[in-house]
Amino acid sequence: MRTQILPLSPNMTPAIAEAARILMAGEVVAFPTETVYGLGANGLCDEAVGKIFDAKGRPGDNPLILHISETQEIHELVSEFPEKARRLAEAFWPGPLTLVLPKSARVPERVSAGLSTVAVRCPKSEAARALIRACGFALAAPSANTSGRPSPTSAAHVFHDLSGKIPLILDGGECEVGLESTVLSLYPKPTLLRPGLVTKEMIEGVIGEEVCVHEAVMSKINGETPSPGMKHAHYAPNAQVFVAKAETPQDAAMKICEKYEEFASKGKKCTIFATIQTQTFYSSKNYVIMGDRDLPHAICARLFALLRSAEGAGFDVIFIESLKAKGAGLAFMNRALRSAGFNFI
Ligand code: TXA
Ligand code: MG
Repeated sequence: MRTQILPLSPNMTPAIAEAARILMAGEVVAFPTETVYGLGANGLCDEAVGKIFDAKGRPGDNPLILHISETQEIHELVSEFPEKARRLAEAFWPGPLTLVLPKSARVPERVSAGLSTVAVRCPKSEAARALIRACGFALAAPSANTSGRPSPTSAAHVFHDLSGKIPLILDGGECEVGLESTVLSLYPKPTLLRPGLVTKEMIEGVIGEEVCVHEAVMSKINGETPSPGMKHAHYAPNAQVFVAKAETPQDAAMKICEKYEEFASKGKKCTIFATIQTQTFYSSKNYVIMGDRDLPHAICARLFALLRSAEGAGFDVIFIESLKAKGAGLAFMNRALRSAGFNFI
């Protein structure tokens, strides 16, 4: 299959119409959202949804998010829409927050991977919402990468992973947020299943109660998880990744320098994901600057793209500095640790 790429600017109308035509025919299309690129299919059609799993090589036990263009469209998809969820939707939709709620009978088995709940979000991206409106149905869409790889934040990333496997990629440029949406379950109590840029603190501000962070967010667990997908490998580039944890950024930098020398002496090509605060430690080494520690949002936006470019440059080993696991920093640490397979130094 030839994979076509259609630009969404300067006029998105023709590209959206073509994408909607393909989606209405039961095929898949990759499209931009404000978080990462999604691989969409008709979310109410079991067969169409199956094609997402095929193209990505995604395990069937990892459920999908349904994307809607307006909050009111959620009523068809869930059997309950409690007051807390309503308040969160009002505060953060359209935007990077996914709510996990009891599903309605309309939701195909494959979308929810057999669970009794369904994940729903209304993306902020105008193009994504225009596409959903043009289709007239909710779009099931995981990130548009091969399963297990870093999520795509540009059309080129999608093409790299899925070229030849999908008919169309809508090119909306680089994603603004760069990390996937926050996933929040409300049952039995508000729990973050995946941190994102709608932070724990922001959610607590709206619902007025504490939000738990699921233990799988920051550690490798073997027991039960709310979604079996939380246990699968994630975000891994084709290189060995280590996250450096230490009391201070300076201590982390020193640890990295030591390990770097050790791997380099064995002939490994190493690089470091540094911050502007620590770059002076690495003057004689390969490194890239993720950004400023005081602006974790901007660092989050670049993480996946940096993982892919380090892999493309042929590095064998990537050392990532850790950030404080609070606010956007929690989302960063979750993705960094997962991309490292929870290997840290
Ligand atoms: O930002 C995003 O959320 C992107 C864009 C395309 O919207 N989508 C995305 O989808 O990241 P995906 O499939 O890569 O991640 C969906 C996450 C998985 O961690 C999955 O386990 C969780 O949502 N999830 C989906 N349905 C669930 C459910 N019923 N219960 C618990 N977790 C669920
Ligand atoms: Mg994904």
